[in-house]
Amino acid sequence: MNPQHSDAFVFFGATGDLAYKKIFPSLQAMVKRGRLTMPVIGVARSAKNLEELRARARSSLEKHGGFDAAAFDKLSGLLRYVKGDNSDPATYQALRKELGSARRPAFYLAIPPTSFEAVVEQLGKSGCAQGARVIIEKPFGRDLASAQDLNRILLGAFEEQAIYRIDHYLGKRPVERMVFFRFTNPFAEAFWDRNHVESVQITMAEDFGVQGRGAFYDETGTIRDVIQNHLFQVLCNLAMEPPVRTDSESIRDEKVKVLKAIPPLGEKSVVRGQFLGYRNEKGVAPESTVETFAALRLEVNSWRWEGVPFYIRAGKCLPVTSTEIVLRLRRPPTVFPGLQLKQNYFRFRVSPEVMVAIGANVMAPGATIGESHEMLGVRQSGADEMDAYERVLGDAMAGDATLYARQDYVEEAWRIVDPVLKADTPIYPYVPQTWGPGEVVRVTPPGGWHHPVNL
Ligand code: BG6
Repeated sequence: MNPQHSDAFVFFGATGDLAYKKIFPSLQAMVKRGRLTMPVIGVARSAKNLEELRARARSSLEKHGGFDAAAFDKLSGLLRYVKGDNSDPATYQALRKELGSARRPAFYLAIPPTSFEAVVEQLGKSGCAQGARVIIEKPFGRDLASAQDLNRILLGAFEEQAIYRIDHYLGKRPVERMVFFRFTNPFAEAFWDRNHVESVQITMAEDFGVQGRGAFYDETGTIRDVIQNHLFQVLCNLAMEPPVRTDSESIRDEKVKVLKAIPPLGEKSVVRGQFLGYRNEKGVAPESTVETFAALRLEVNSWRWEGVPFYIRAGKCLPVTSTEIVLRLRRPPTVFPGLQLKQNYFRFRVSPEVMVAIGANVMAPGATIGESHEMLGVRQSGADEMDAYERVLGDAMAGDATLYARQDYVEEAWRIVDPVLKADTPIYPYVPQTWGPGEVVRVTPPGGWHHPVNL
């Protein structure tokens, strides 16, 4: 095992929703791959004892993780339980005892952000934080100022290198593959700039609503929930320069540079929408003006990208569930008069399937003069893919921060969206299962939005 590897995994919120849906399945998957052999300590209040936590883990796996009897047995053997309140010093005394000889524990805060401060403070005071790392879930604050406050709290007990901010989108292989595609295919890189690209668009569509998370969503909205974090990460992978080395800091430096080149969003560069029926969801205010859809236009004022508009669109209750990216290239000059040629493009489908496609003009067979547009594509099955959570948690345990957001990155991302979050721009209703409100024409790429379809 590498000397940086954690020697115990502790997760707060062990009986919570995130643990149930994501953490137990990821832990079982790690056990199956032989990647998890250290103690796994759950901290929570509501399970009576370890047996009850084991029963919850089992039920989680049966529902979300493809229960595997042998792996579950091993995971059960690693599992420990500390019952206690997050702000009670006695919980941390018990935790210290349970940690035994562990010197490099990883603490995962799978709890609401309102409890972060108490836990971090107690980890510091009890001495548990020494030699440890901490993993926290988004959102990292609600805006620039609160993100800075949260960071001050974290830095009170941990060094920046020991803080791992999860953005599970970074754990998705197809998101990382965009970087691989760019920097291993010189033909693509040759077109990857302001001279050839007319516009870039990113769509993250979900055909479902807030799925019982109304109270959370009504505090958050689409821009905070998925744009400021997940989709900005995608944007950075598309727009960054090749890193000079592949260590975590060299890669994260390049991403931060992309954000630094983006001016704060103006009100005219955003259209916000809300699906009809959202206000009737449990936990949502009857007069809520929180967005369930947003479309934005950004500028990346770098040497490579100046003048190329970047569009981002995300929403709930749209016609499909898919994330796709399209780089549309500039039109060619006319050699064949009268022909309306389509534009070349690169298209990446990140979910649910994985696909890279290139759009090219090819003369239709048998035509004297005419055109058809063909897509040259590679489609991959995601069947053997490691789940994003398994991947990022495994990396944090191993001490690799590449797939985690660094604080300077988080702050730059808030700087960009802060003005529109505070501006209270109009909210336009839209009919569920459509592509958002009609007003989105104001923030639409030249040539229109590309709508992903179900394959
Ligand atoms: C989460 C958001 O971070 O990402 C959800 O809170 C969203 O609202 C989800 O649905 C999408 O992630 P995935 O991996 O399911 O596509």
